[in-house]
Amino acid sequence: MKKYIFIAALCFAIIFVVSSFAFAMPSGPKLFKKYYCIDCHTLGHEGGIVGPDLSNVGKIKSLSWIKAQILHPGTHFVLGTKTKINKKIYLVRMPGFKTIPPSVVNKLAEYIKTFPQKRANLAYKKPPAGLALFRADNCIACHRIDGAGGNVGPDLSHVGKTRSLSWIEAQIVDPKVHFTYGIPATINGHTYLVIMPEFKNIPASQLNTIARYLESLK
Ligand code: HEC
Ligand code: HEC
Repeated sequence: MKKYIFIAALCFAIIFVVSSFAFAMPSGPKLFKKYYCIDCHTLGHEGGIVGPDLSNVGKIKSLSWIKAQILHPGTHFVLGTKTKINKKIYLVRMPGFKTIPPSVVNKLAEYIKTFPQKRANLAYKKPPAGLALFRADNCIACHRIDGAGGNVGPDLSHVGKTRSLSWIEAQIVDPKVHFTYGIPATINGHTYLVIMPEFKNIPASQLNTIARYLESLK
């Protein structure tokens, strides 16, 4: 009899351990991606540029301020923040994430508080010149590469598999030669036909550096 009790207890223990792993909260970086924070914010060395860089927010703001920002950004920023996308200034407001469970809000806020990280800075590798331009020229506001960036345009993580260098250069300077009507993109639940803006005035060397970088993404 004792033997059976022991085996039953052992089974429960195993189920408990396995299930606690299975239901464990995803890590801060995973949540930061899962809830789209990374589409708009850079934290550390990757992320979008629609919202402010959050790498130093943890130093300035308290944990409770950050939690409040995630749930009700309107209480801190009434009018939104000016952001430059494609040389035009837009007023952007952070969406409130009222439906995120409190435990996730905590985890996200704690993760933001871990920055700035001295060690991460030491490990920081300078991005390739093409990627730096991809960010600086705001391509990243619409396109994502390896999970970082916007989703208005297509994901470019493997664009070099299907497109040649000259095709990519043509796309940047005059997208209409490839896409006459644009492609459907869902923004805030509405579907729009979006055509990429022309980067007609981009200096030739920048054009080539970005295109060569994209072409290398296989
Ligand atoms: C659609 C873009 C967008 C998304 C998605 C987004 N934010 Fe924001 N966030 C902003 C903007 C814009 C601001 C500037 C304040 C404002 O105008 O609302 C901001 C401000 C902040 C700030 C304060 C920064 C400062 O310097 O004071 C924090 C912290 C923050 N966001 C965290 C998050 C977290 C965490 C998530 C994911 C749960 C998230 N944001 C998702 C756009 C976004
Ligand atoms: C305002 C949003 C937006 C910006 C900014 C933007 N793009 Fe695009 N991009 C798009 C859309 C939408 C498409 C889909 C094709 C079309 O409609 O032109 C696209 C398509 C592409 C493609 C072709 C993908 C494929 O294989 O079909 C490449 C390459 C590309 N963009 C590169 C860039 C680069 C480089 C920049 C910065 C210099 C940039 N894009 C800036 C929206 C944008």
